[in-house]
Amino acid sequence: MTHEDFPTDDPAVVTAGLPYANGDLHVGHLRSYVNADVFTRGLRKLGQQAVYVCGSDMHGTPIAVEAAKEGVSPEEFALRHHEQYQETFPEFNVDFDQYGHTHDETNTELTREFVRAWEANGYVHEKEIDVAYDPEADQWLPDRFVEGTCPYCGEHARGDECDEGCQRHLEPGEIEDPVSTITGNPAEYRKREHKFLRLSDLQEHLQGFINRMEGTSNAKHQPLEWIEGDLQDLCITRDMDWGIDYPGEGAEDLVLYVWVDAPIEYVSATKQYCERTGDFDWESVWKDGDGEVVHVIGRDIIQHHTVYWPAMLEAADYAEPRAVCAVGFVNIDGKGLSTSKNRAIWAREYLDEGLHPDLLRYYMATASGFERDVNFSWERFAQRVNSELADVVGNFVYRALLFASRNFGGTPDAAVSDEVETEIAQAMDDYEDALNDYDLRSAGERAVALARFGNEYIQHNEPWKLDDDEAAPVIRDCVQLVKAVAVLLQPFTPEKADEAYRQLGEPDTAADATVGDCLQAPPAEFGEPEELFEKVEDERVAELDEALQAKIEAASSDEGDDGDVSEESDVELEPLADERVSFEDFQELDIRVGEVVAAEGIEGADDLARLEVDIGHEVRQVVAGIKQLHDLDALPGTRVVVVANLEQAELFGVESNGMVLAAGEDADLLTTHGDSEPGTKVK
Ligand code: MSP
Ligand code: ZN
Repeated sequence: MTHEDFPTDDPAVVTAGLPYANGDLHVGHLRSYVNADVFTRGLRKLGQQAVYVCGSDMHGTPIAVEAAKEGVSPEEFALRHHEQYQETFPEFNVDFDQYGHTHDETNTELTREFVRAWEANGYVHEKEIDVAYDPEADQWLPDRFVEGTCPYCGEHARGDECDEGCQRHLEPGEIEDPVSTITGNPAEYRKREHKFLRLSDLQEHLQGFINRMEGTSNAKHQPLEWIEGDLQDLCITRDMDWGIDYPGEGAEDLVLYVWVDAPIEYVSATKQYCERTGDFDWESVWKDGDGEVVHVIGRDIIQHHTVYWPAMLEAADYAEPRAVCAVGFVNIDGKGLSTSKNRAIWAREYLDEGLHPDLLRYYMATASGFERDVNFSWERFAQRVNSELADVVGNFVYRALLFASRNFGGTPDAAVSDEVETEIAQAMDDYEDALNDYDLRSAGERAVALARFGNEYIQHNEPWKLDDDEAAPVIRDCVQLVKAVAVLLQPFTPEKADEAYRQLGEPDTAADATVGDCLQAPPAEFGEPEELFEKVEDERVAELDEALQAKIEAASSDEGDDGDVSEESDVELEPLADERVSFEDFQELDIRVGEVVAAEGIEGADDLARLEVDIGHEVRQVVAGIKQLHDLDALPGTRVVVVANLEQAELFGVESNGMVLAAGEDADLLTTHGDSEPGTKVK
């Protein structure tokens, strides 16, 4: 099934992964909330009715563990963070149409309805399983109350997720060498009855769903292998007090697993929104499928949104979402953010620096392709802000409006030229296409490209050398370009776009404008403009960076001996080559940045893996001797370096069309230090 392009006649519901109500928000979280916000605003620009819903994730062990540390009740603890999030999001112009929480009445009721529907439809069964238990604390150990080794990839993992390794969801009883996080003692496994959702019966549906669904390629590729083999049923209950009580018979002392009631909040928040505004019928969107549900999440929770959640919906006779868009992670110094080690840039910290929220929004939405990880750096942040927002957009808007107001008191009385009209119309088309491809970066960059065109247009036509009659059509064009840039940039930088709109003397806000307004004439009168964007100066970047480096150092010294401290190497090094090659010979190699899209072992070959690597122009199949040396499941999304013009070869009957570079016996894969895109030439 292919979906109709946006805008459609049905309402769109955009959601963002719910933040656990257990800590402060950092730039990593913000990346997903900002992107979902930009996307919602972008859809509205296309004339699509769109609402953005979310809420705080109040239940589960992440909250119970932290509340216990503070000695307060989980409810008090979670509500405090929920209120804090409600204050912080608007400060980044993240503008939810409804922001609820999973512990409220709507969600509690709706969650129970879901479970009753699963039971009525025959999708729930009971089974005795091993559950980790801490004899000293005399307590069951669900999810994050236990840690150990991932049975799939051997990395250190939490009870319910392999967060440091293959990212798989782990079922109760699966983790190996379980250790209690309460006492630090080894945990025992004890038998216990739990409720399960029959995912095994939904396999075919899920396979169909993944084919039909839109979104980012990581969200479409990664689930394929999870749903290929036998699907394990999902344990939906936990031995805890904090959570939503199991509604059915015989499970009075169990609560629902947090991942049951959490995604249901997407529906609950939509319901609350509809009841408050009467805008549309939430049931027709969620149950009848007369709506466009788009889930924006971080890449760590793809399995929950492409396997468990669609199964939960289907088992309760709900419709399926249209798209799942999984945004890449924000890292610092090449490593994941860490709340406990303070290796993070906090939302509050950013604001306290006095930096404008729209700058971070623009950076978060365009710093890299949607699904690629971004290594946060103040230098690159400043570079994008300065060279794109300040030098291109700000400069163009200021020059054009200053000239227009000084010489014509506003928009000159002239017609827009064909050249400029065509350019704006092209930008509108490209923008619409980019949003339909869930490609926010291209949409944002298209707006900036239009401003760049404007700058070149002024430069080329030199209106300052012309008399008023000759200058009028040039400036008329420029004023139209300013308006178009403001409209297209509004989803990314809403406050700044509104400011540009005010400078143009527009009576409405840029938020109210749609793409069609790009070609509507601005008011005849407006005054002198002010600069839209201030540059982030070099000294400022140096200060910010110094503070960040200090954090990175403190975080890595916390890591102690088992951290990233480099060990003495006892590898015998090959001697350096004596013979030199000429620069010309070297240049004959076409070496490119690539990104692994898929990786699987080649059957029958001990060491070989078949990789699909995106090298910008195309996706290449490459065979590499890394089967034993790497966790192939964790490879998709990894940036690699590929010799693209190596002769083709066939290995174990599989064609290899390029070579992935790797160092040493362990095939340590080469990657890039920054955010170079796939296809970038290495030289
Ligand atoms: N509560 C769950 C989601 C439930 S959705 C039904 C959760 N919470 S979280 O607080 O850990 O993360 C909230 C959102 O932020 C998720 O979409 C997550 O993927 C995203 N991110 C968390 N850290 C991130 C980065 N460092 N980088 C990018 N996104 C990140 O998961
Ligand atoms: Zn794992």
